[in-house]
Amino acid sequence: MTQDEQKRAAAAAAIEYVPAGSIVGVGTGSTANYFIDALAKIKNKIEGAVASSDATAQRLKQHGIEVMDLNNVSDIPVYIDGADEITENLHMIKGGGGALTREKIVAAVARKFICITDQSKLVNVLGNFPLPVEVSPMARSYVAREIVHLGGHPALRQGFITDNGNVILDVHGLSILNPVELEGTLNQITGVVTNGLFARRPANTLLLGTDNGVRTISL
Ligand code: 5RP
Repeated sequence: MTQDEQKRAAAAAAIEYVPAGSIVGVGTGSTANYFIDALAKIKNKIEGAVASSDATAQRLKQHGIEVMDLNNVSDIPVYIDGADEITENLHMIKGGGGALTREKIVAAVARKFICITDQSKLVNVLGNFPLPVEVSPMARSYVAREIVHLGGHPALRQGFITDNGNVILDVHGLSILNPVELEGTLNQITGVVTNGLFARRPANTLLLGTDNGVRTISL
């Protein structure tokens, strides 16, 4: 199977995790887009969706799926999203598409996080993929210096502004042996909005598209 076929298979498998009548949290990226396309086929069985980005909201609406404001929603049974890297502990790096903050907010509200990826995303140690950190623009240089003190090599994502009006530093050169600790340490730097480590709230289940079908890993 190609990488895209693996993503599509994982996304299709996630439909089984969507309860009838529910409001579904929907992630951002190419794998999440495959999920949205699959969700459209059962749109009459759900109440609506909460989107983790403007791009996802637009795609949901194009499919005729109602997009709800998170502030008007108290229960999201399931959040479905991709990842840039994930371990067997279901800790993740996310934010390759720049939607990390809203993704983390919707994931925080959701009762279950189902991650959908192709097999290339499963790693032993996080950090080969540069870790995205969303930063308030005026704090960009300060936060970059603090990250250098932590041993990282931050690079400003050129020409990119998040849906929240912030910038992203992509941090290279990290071998993240304790993602729970680093997630907290980065969030303590003044000016950091959030970082792309999803370790304090890991996924509950990974649906991993492989050459031999979809493998399920649950905590
Ligand atoms: C966007 C994300 C995506 O989940 C991540 O980048 C994976 O994307 P793709 O499904 O295109 O490989 O975190 O902010």
